Amino acid sequence: MKSHLDKTLEKRLNEYGQEHLLSAWEDLSEEEMLRFSEELLAVDFEIFERAKHFEEKTYETLAPIPIFYAARAEKEQNELETIGLHAIAEGKIGAVLLCGGQGTRLGYSHAKGMFNIGLTKEIPIFSLHFGRLCEVAKRAGNWFPVYIMTSVFNREEIEAFLQEHSFFGYEPSAVRFFNQTMAPATDLEGKLYQNSPSSLVLSPDGNGGWFSSLVFEGYLNDVKENGVEWFNVIAIDNVLQKTADPRFIGAVIRENAASGAKVVKKISPDERIGLICKNNDRPAVIEYFELDRLKKEKSVSTEEMEYGVILNYLFRVDEMEKTLSLKLPVHRARKKIPYYRDGEYVKPETENGFKYEMLATDLVERMDSCLAYEILREHEFAPVKNRTGIDSVESAREMLLALGYEL
Ligand code: UTP
Repeated sequence: MKSHLDKTLEKRLNEYGQEHLLSAWEDLSEEEMLRFSEELLAVDFEIFERAKHFEEKTYETLAPIPIFYAARAEKEQNELETIGLHAIAEGKIGAVLLCGGQGTRLGYSHAKGMFNIGLTKEIPIFSLHFGRLCEVAKRAGNWFPVYIMTSVFNREEIEAFLQEHSFFGYEPSAVRFFNQTMAPATDLEGKLYQNSPSSLVLSPDGNGGWFSSLVFEGYLNDVKENGVEWFNVIAIDNVLQKTADPRFIGAVIRENAASGAKVVKKISPDERIGLICKNNDRPAVIEYFELDRLKKEKSVSTEEMEYGVILNYLFRVDEMEKTLSLKLPVHRARKKIPYYRDGEYVKPETENGFKYEMLATDLVERMDSCLAYEILREHEFAPVKNRTGIDSVESAREMLLALGYEL
């Protein structure tokens, strides 16, 4: 029995094969012991089971989902925009900007929103988002609330950056920040990684937990007091992202859907975006990394499904509240994870472990219905995931230039 170690905790670590975490326990100060025990007690070991469970998930009855085509939205634009602008004006829409990611593929040490997409002048990605938010707010005559999800790693710099730039013209009192929750990381065998003898490697737990994190930070009252009925949840790394798009909002409200997803026709079956479809007659999104597994299962065909999601969703607040009691699937993502072990700090050259993430795509399956709203790629989808090549700084700049942006 180790000194000052909670018996239940020791038992739990043994049960989950995590005894290695205690190898330097006796060398820790009392303060370190206390802090580390608290961190270990907070670990939800169930996530590892949930990850395994998800990897065995079967898709029995997949079918294409009806698409609300872009041509139709164009034709009905007046009616849709009137409904959408009315909802924004009445304060029924809140935007949620997902900014908690670490942008590992981009290899940029700050928050992605701060990345300069300009060529001859400074154009931070945030400025494009806030510019469009300002336009909509002005058209609707309402500074609708904007909730910004950050992580403990980038909260301070994002807040400081936006304040320094006066929120690029947006009304500061309408902007709120909340931190997302964190999850531990493991090696390829499932052993938890440490950052030091008395701390774990923790990383943001994916973009799927945005609603529970928002509730955890006490914002549900704010949401209700403001009369927000819908969240428009978007990824910050799409530089053409249209947030609070009145047409999209109008279409989802008019069609009486429980949620909406902006979707784009996939360039090829291998494009790395989640495929939208129906599973057991419910809306669903199958992530691209799942598709490889499914292709091997002969009973499943995804050939007729041609549309993918761009991470721009509308979710009804009351529907989101129902998801609070449900556990979302957990995905294991292979990553390079620096770690401390046996007195050494290691920076790996290759992927050496897993991070555990929940994804916003999995919320779609929790909704009774989802309007799959087609957008045109050249107008609305330029994700910045890498420096060069597909979905990169390079490709995003080309798309912005093609639309007449001065970079
Ligand atoms: P990605 O899944 O592409 O992750 O995020 P990322 O962190 O930007 O990049 P990689 O995978 O490390 O290279 C899609 C959107 O979800 C947000 C990101 O900030 C981005 O807007 N996100 C991602 C979060 O808010 N939290 C997370 O834990 C992960």
